[in-house]
Amino acid sequence: MDADRAVTRLRDAVAAIVGDEHVLLDDDMRAGYETDWTGRYTGRASMVVRPATTDQVAAVVRHCDEHAIAIIPQGGNTGLVGAAVPRAHSTRPTIVLSMRRLDVIGRVDVDALQVTAGAGVTIAAWRASARAVGLDIPIDFAARDSATIGGAIATNAGGSRVLRYGTMRRQVVGVEAVLADGSVVGSLAGLPKETVGLDWPSLVAGTEGTMAIVTAARLRLVPLFEHVVTALVSMATIADAVTLVGLLRQRLGSLDAVEIVQQQALDLVAAHLGTAPPILPSAGGTIVLVECADHRDPSIDLSAVVDSAPGVLDTAVAIDPVQRAHLVQFRDRITEAIAAVAASTGVPTYKLDVAVPIRAVGELLDVAGRAADSDRAELIAFGHLAEGNLHLNYLRTTTPSTIAETVLGAVARLGGTISAEHGIGVAKTSWMHLVRSAADLDAQRALRRALDPNRILNPGVLEPVTPIAQVP
Ligand code: MLT
Ligand code: ZN
Repeated sequence: MDADRAVTRLRDAVAAIVGDEHVLLDDDMRAGYETDWTGRYTGRASMVVRPATTDQVAAVVRHCDEHAIAIIPQGGNTGLVGAAVPRAHSTRPTIVLSMRRLDVIGRVDVDALQVTAGAGVTIAAWRASARAVGLDIPIDFAARDSATIGGAIATNAGGSRVLRYGTMRRQVVGVEAVLADGSVVGSLAGLPKETVGLDWPSLVAGTEGTMAIVTAARLRLVPLFEHVVTALVSMATIADAVTLVGLLRQRLGSLDAVEIVQQQALDLVAAHLGTAPPILPSAGGTIVLVECADHRDPSIDLSAVVDSAPGVLDTAVAIDPVQRAHLVQFRDRITEAIAAVAASTGVPTYKLDVAVPIRAVGELLDVAGRAADSDRAELIAFGHLAEGNLHLNYLRTTTPSTIAETVLGAVARLGGTISAEHGIGVAKTSWMHLVRSAADLDAQRALRRALDPNRILNPGVLEPVTPIAQVP
């Protein structure tokens, strides 16, 4: 059968399941689904298919399995490792399976503190549903308006509240998911205790759509605190910043977030917004953003800890929502500011998302900075200090692989991980061996083969490849 006839047959088959208007064939219509938002990862799909129910997902997946068609599951397309867009050099018939129409959110169970949400519900909509009944969600990150529940589970997303509540994996008390043969598995009962063998949330969280496609999840909710205080603290050294994290954790039960914003990142946002930085520059280049949230005002307790910490050069504190938002934007809008520079230079940002034991953050920043210097690139570093999780963004880089080898090699030596919250995708497959043993990778491969013998679920993603160079 020639290629055009095969595409027509596939279109007819999936249109019969999801409806004509939800099969996108035109180049223009597909474009927004085929390139990630950094512009670094792109590929072509035969079509984009937009199911609205679990039954439709199952029927589309079954058809693809029978005809060995690759499926790229996609939520809000806010991923940063190329996992949710078609593979660049694949010649295999491929569809993007957009999950955004599975956007139904159920009634909040205020007794169990849980809600059931479709995979296409955004993080912002999940939060709005909780806040409408005086509750909150345990996860927050800057892409909240577009990122979806399904994508957040697939990447085991983190964000700023991990310190208090853990990563996405811990928020999923049940899932419904479609396996590669089109069968539907899991449970949305949300029982806090259950021991009847395999735990589907554990299998799908962090496996980037390679084991099953999540269609809905039962999610944990948390109290909504009426008092929130935000502080930006300029630190003399990175070692002082690490000491501050320890003091905050030891003394403040209300601690919600401890983020790191390197001076270059703060200056970049200030330039992007056309506004002055809200605090004096840090001699050592490190600014810490702290948030506490409680049922009573935590600002006095927070100030007491900050005042007692060594190396504090300047502090800006806000409890008023407008003033808090002003401070928070210097953290929240870094990615957007970086994207604006990348767009103006025409060179996509090279992004590494790594974590090391918190005491090693300073050493890693030194290595990362030297890697930028040797490429004449610019490093914009920020992230989640409490977890030792750094987002290392390289602007105007010409040798991203060399940078990755240097930095990821150092990360492994320091006892860290090559992906803390963005996933492996297609971006980091060459370095999985640095943090996973051969036995571990073999077991993952065997599991995947058993569940997806025709290799239709997100092929190329999370597939370890032979190291492209020996990392010292
Ligand atoms: C963040 O923490 O803002 C996100 O992980 C996004 C990013 O790294 O660009
Ligand atoms: Zn992050």
